[in-house]
Amino acid sequence: MQGLAWWQRGVVYQVYPRSFQDTNGDGIGDLQGVRRRLDHLVRLGVDAVWLSPIYPSPMADFGYDVADYCGVDPIFGSLQDFDRLIDDAHARGLKLILDFVPNHTSEAHPWFAESRSGRPSPKRDWYIWRDPAPDGGPPNNWMSNFGGSAWTFDPASGQYYHHAFLEQQPDLNWRSPELRAAMAEVMRFWLDRGVDGFRVDVIWHLIKDAEFRDNPPNSAFTPDQPDIARLLQVHSADQEEVLDVIREMRAVVDDYQDRVLIGEIYLPVERLVAYYGPELSGVHLPFNFQLILAPWNASAIARLIDEYERALPPGGWPNWVLGNHDQKRIASRIGAAQARVAAMLLLTLRGTPTIYYGDEIGLADVFVPHELAQDPWEKNEPGHGRDPARTPMPWDDTPTGGFTTGRPWLPLNDTRALNVAAQEADPRSMLRLHRALLALRRSHPALAAGAYEGERTEGEVLAFRRRLGDEELLVALNLSPNPAEIDLGRTAETLLSTHLDRSGPEPAGRLRLRADEGLVLRL
Ligand code: GLC
Ligand code: CA
Repeated sequence: MQGLAWWQRGVVYQVYPRSFQDTNGDGIGDLQGVRRRLDHLVRLGVDAVWLSPIYPSPMADFGYDVADYCGVDPIFGSLQDFDRLIDDAHARGLKLILDFVPNHTSEAHPWFAESRSGRPSPKRDWYIWRDPAPDGGPPNNWMSNFGGSAWTFDPASGQYYHHAFLEQQPDLNWRSPELRAAMAEVMRFWLDRGVDGFRVDVIWHLIKDAEFRDNPPNSAFTPDQPDIARLLQVHSADQEEVLDVIREMRAVVDDYQDRVLIGEIYLPVERLVAYYGPELSGVHLPFNFQLILAPWNASAIARLIDEYERALPPGGWPNWVLGNHDQKRIASRIGAAQARVAAMLLLTLRGTPTIYYGDEIGLADVFVPHELAQDPWEKNEPGHGRDPARTPMPWDDTPTGGFTTGRPWLPLNDTRALNVAAQEADPRSMLRLHRALLALRRSHPALAAGAYEGERTEGEVLAFRRRLGDEELLVALNLSPNPAEIDLGRTAETLLSTHLDRSGPEPAGRLRLRADEGLVLRL
């Protein structure tokens, strides 16, 4: 694995700080809590922690509305707590990645107050202000990702400001050189403090059409979809010039040693890979969400892996994601049994995997009654909210799961049925499976660094080989609840089953897989 950077070899784990561990009884997770649970991550075997936003924020979008890029919200702790967290993480060999939210600030950010103070403000063009349309309405038809128009009128100045998300999240104007310089300073602030990189929020949104043309209608829109899907985001996002902005961000990161830049990008594969940038000057890892969006069947997944592998630019390092704080959890999408198979897939594909907290124990979405809804999207567009995937981590079987001594900000799952402590004790638990998979990745460089070769799909069995030097591994995943067989042709040794009850030599010929079983074999 020589020659690979840590972010290529390693595995990333996403912590949603509000829901990881509360230490002061206010029902909200905090930085002290993350520190306290670092050993869980070490035992799990991941390499890096990505923290969702911890900056001062009115929490209209739970931290994705930043009021100060260079601080820590008191609800999470202090800068000193952050420094301690970084030290503790590094002492354990863990990297720490921050969530950087450059597309918009909170309306409470002092920059916005200045910008809003009137047209002559020197920071007026740090945000996106436009005159009304001739009829006095919004400047164009762009819609907010959380429903309704993406424009809000400011009576004092007679102009509208743009917000791709909530009206409390005004979009920054990345065409302004001063704004770009200020944001580079922000990145340096954290890099100087020792962070190992950034996950950049909605990076494909940073530059909008210079002429602010209307977005065209989406003819495939169906009423079960959110408002935003009514239009194709042709002019409001994914503009070619965004790659210049990203090149600048990358240059800031490259001034430091061994840091990583990851981009959140929801685009089809052929557009996604453009974010590696010309000559790989873009993000190191454009998040690949294909496994979240694809139907769960062997041929569809085999096809998408091939498509992705083929689309990667020379030298572009792949990555895979199964879930995050914006998506239905994997255990709810495909069920508990297949979630084990999915874990094996995630951790044996070629490229950097990202694990969402809770998925390592098979946590499912938790029903959150409408009156308890926290997510602003749920309040605007009921049914689309993300609270169910953001519930507190159940560490033990007490009603509040060892997460808090107070009232948790979101309800927990049935902790008696599913919690970390119980899975520690159960040798065949999902947690043990994750540990085994991560240990296997470490002890078999073919998994972390080897070449990928797809096998012909047989029925619902997805199979591929990973090869490095003399070692050749076969991964065979039964994506169905029925037993299956594939042709093995030669003898092999099972290294790991998702059922955690099988290893050793397999006879040449047909390889049998039980229902919902995945295997890693050495050929
Ligand atoms: C990203 C975040 C999401 C947030 C949005 C606005 O998609 O992952 O949680 O609501 O950006 O910042
Ligand atoms: Ca707390």
